[in-house]
Amino acid sequence: MTEIIPGGVTSASTADLLIVPVLADLTWGPGAESVAAQLGPWLTGYLEARQFTGAPGQITVVPGGNLSFGAVAFVGLGDEVDAEALRRAAGSVGRMAAPYASAATTLHLVDVEGAVGAVTLGFLLGAYRFDAYLSDPKTRVNERLELLEAPEGTEAEIQAATAVARGVMLARDLVNRPAVDKAPEVLADRARSLSTEISVEIVDEVEAAERGYGGLLAVGAGSTNPPRMVIMKYEPADAKPFVAFVGKGIVFDSGGLSLKPAKGMETMKTDMAGAAAVYGAMQAIAELELPIRVLGVTPLSENMTGGAAQRPGDVFTAYNGKTVEVLNTDAEGRLVLADGLGIATEAEPDLIVDIATLTGAAKVALGPTVGAIFGNDDEAIAAVEAAARFAGESMWTLPLERSYRSLLDSKNIGDPWGGSILAALFLSEFVNERPWIHLDIAGPARADKMEHYVAKGGTGFSVRTLVELAREMVKKG
Ligand code: BES
Ligand code: MN
Ligand code: ZN
Repeated sequence: MTEIIPGGVTSASTADLLIVPVLADLTWGPGAESVAAQLGPWLTGYLEARQFTGAPGQITVVPGGNLSFGAVAFVGLGDEVDAEALRRAAGSVGRMAAPYASAATTLHLVDVEGAVGAVTLGFLLGAYRFDAYLSDPKTRVNERLELLEAPEGTEAEIQAATAVARGVMLARDLVNRPAVDKAPEVLADRARSLSTEISVEIVDEVEAAERGYGGLLAVGAGSTNPPRMVIMKYEPADAKPFVAFVGKGIVFDSGGLSLKPAKGMETMKTDMAGAAAVYGAMQAIAELELPIRVLGVTPLSENMTGGAAQRPGDVFTAYNGKTVEVLNTDAEGRLVLADGLGIATEAEPDLIVDIATLTGAAKVALGPTVGAIFGNDDEAIAAVEAAARFAGESMWTLPLERSYRSLLDSKNIGDPWGGSILAALFLSEFVNERPWIHLDIAGPARADKMEHYVAKGGTGFSVRTLVELAREMVKKG
């Protein structure tokens, strides 16, 4: 992976590519001025001809001339530079810099708190690509980014942002992997290499039956790949707050006997994005050595149509003892989460957060890039909203409308309207009134086009919010 290196004002960089940020209306800082002067008077005319104004997302590359760099890339930041503008600009640069062996960027003009972390995260995520399955992977990936003019002591900020970026990239990798290569057993096993500080218990289908994980088993019955419940614990000494993350891990969602149409199935290897986010967040939290107790629960199952598959009208008993009639086998996420939430509730954490690609309705309501927040606790909702905003992930709170509750009585689906709310109400039955947040990431878990630091495919959405939430819980104690 690309290494990010802090460089002092005097550092003599030998990078192939120099990146120069420019504000709207071609506003240069002192650093850019000297670069421009050394390149020659042709530059302003050239940028004008290319219609480069410094607007966000614009990039123009010129030869390095008599500078020590092979090329110089001017990157627009726009006129409102905040952490997200920096992440996005750095993301576009990260992708564009891939063919260069190394790059350096000036940080002048950038008077934003956390600028170094934002640039690091954006650059690493922008440079991300998933080429494990290409028959001819020919992309050369940039190996270093030098942060010129980075203030002293920014190594910690770089390291922290790198840990978060790694967590996001892990989640992306797992989502992007084809379902054939991530059966529940395989994905469960992957948890063992997250961190030596994370203990992992993998419950197989035999033990799951003994413990009464009825939802997990009901969904997994139609697949030849048996389900797994993964229970992970990060328990550093002296950790005060205690959070539980529960991630939906449907490695492929065919819909089961309530089969999806072909089109709707095309991206359903993404249906374990919640579990992937739990893996990514826990890995990052352990790498950051945050003093917080984290319980991670990922019910992993494949929703298929085999001869033993559950039928519409079948009834199962969830881990907490509730019975549920399954009218639609495509509403399977809530069934495996029922058991996951039951396990989390039993551990009595301060807060439970579940993350799930749960309903197409969430995507209808909020579009492809915004996640839905639900919860039974106003303080927790406010904390997650703040964490998401700070981390740069778009999320919006929808109501847990209790008056709709009777629509669900003892079955797994209700009306066609308000599908995300009904799913959230279903989940709320399994947390025993404990503070709980549900993130429906059906839209933002994957992107169908690349944009700034988001690549096409798995996005790793919610990893950054979960890590930020853990940081905030540590601060509050
Ligand atoms: N995994 C899907 C939700 C989904 C749909 C995620 C589209 C991402 C994109 C989930 O298991 C599902 O099928 N939900 C049903 C629920 C319905 C049967 C009540 C849905 O959204 O149609
Ligand atoms: Mn489904
Ligand atoms: Zn699903």
